Amino acid sequence: MSSNDQGPSTRLIHSAVADPDVHPLVTPIYETTTFVFESAAAVQAYNEGRSSQYLYSRYGNPTVVAVEQTLAALDHAEAALVFGSGMAATASTLMGLTSAGDEVICGSAIYGGTLHLLQDLLTRFGVTVRFVSVDELHRLDAAIGRRTRLVWFESPINPTLQCVDIRAVASACRAHGVLSVMDNTFASPINQQPLALGVDLVMQSATKYLNGHSDVTAGCVTGPRALVDQLVPSRRLLGTILDPRPASALGRGLKTLAVRVARHNATARAVAEFLAADRRVTRVYYPGLPGDPDHRLAAGQMTGFGGMVCFDLGGSFERAAACFDRLTLVTRAASLGGVESIVSLPVLTSQWGHSDAQLAAAGITRGMLRLSVGLEDPQDLIADLDQALG
Ligand SMILES: Cc1ncc(COP(=O)(O)O)c(C=O)c1O
Repeated sequence: MSSNDQGPSTRLIHSAVADPDVHPLVTPIYETTTFVFESAAAVQAYNEGRSSQYLYSRYGNPTVVAVEQTLAALDHAEAALVFGSGMAATASTLMGLTSAGDEVICGSAIYGGTLHLLQDLLTRFGVTVRFVSVDELHRLDAAIGRRTRLVWFESPINPTLQCVDIRAVASACRAHGVLSVMDNTFASPINQQPLALGVDLVMQSATKYLNGHSDVTAGCVTGPRALVDQLVPSRRLLGTILDPRPASALGRGLKTLAVRVARHNATARAVAEFLAADRRVTRVYYPGLPGDPDHRLAAGQMTGFGGMVCFDLGGSFERAAACFDRLTLVTRAASLGGVESIVSLPVLTSQWGHSDAQLAAAGITRGMLRLSVGLEDPQDLIADLDQALG
């Protein structure tokens, strides 16, 4: 049947043809849920892994694969997978790598969502979780048991910016045949390369620095192909892959990551120095300050100290909240890593719902403000903080 003989509904749906002679500079958004096959033999070849075709966007999509290639290159990794959020990446990783009866060791100072996923959800499926202090992470030989499958940690830690000795954790895990997985969200691959320090897998919330413009929610995991491939079934079955449109936005954000992070590093240091010199501030947490207890450790594993600064106003929630409310340029919001400076009170956001014991274990006080230093002019940020300190 020629197309002239077809009805208008059929012609509306089937007339568009992709032009094979178009060579775009930028990967287009393949905004399609599914892909066309020529024959049963072509589907069969796909099913048996003999074809590079795509089948269904929940399994994979060229726009998504393009950004995965960038992320793998950034981490010098064999493979990368992207997900619909950092938590989707975390959940898919944990479900892909653990089974009922396994134990996960996790730093007790950890992003709140990770803590609750492990403590409240994964335990319902027979995985046991042991939360350990940073000191215990540094003495992992004593903590790792017969059933330990995986160690999950982050460095610098949200929100206290405390650092974990990445090489020490990775080598203890390797010695015991246990997987090490690290959340590198705070540092970004520009400032820290955990795979090169021996970690097995790196997870990041791409919602933060990787995208950098506070308009995409995404996550990613990078590592050796044999391990990353073990996450493919859980991503497929949980349906946690990123959509092509936000994947394209993430790919665009990534192109400026190195220049953005260099500026975040410099401005955060200027802000941290201002706060450290101010008597109204009880304590500043920034591993780039020479006086920070983790400065030596950070300097041995980071090439830049990042854009996150945390400070304490005498442990007093009232003082922290008053300072928070008085800020005019720095925006009150959750999240971090965007071009605009953002402030949050950890006890109301990332650590909301933590018990006093959990807050203490994570080194968090009610007087803490967490600052994600953006790309504004440093003197304007410092002036805003100065007036807000009252
Ligand atoms: C350190 C860290 N890891 C993971 C996540 C979770 O990422 P997402 O919000 O993209 O799910 C966050 C979110 O704030 C985070 O700060």
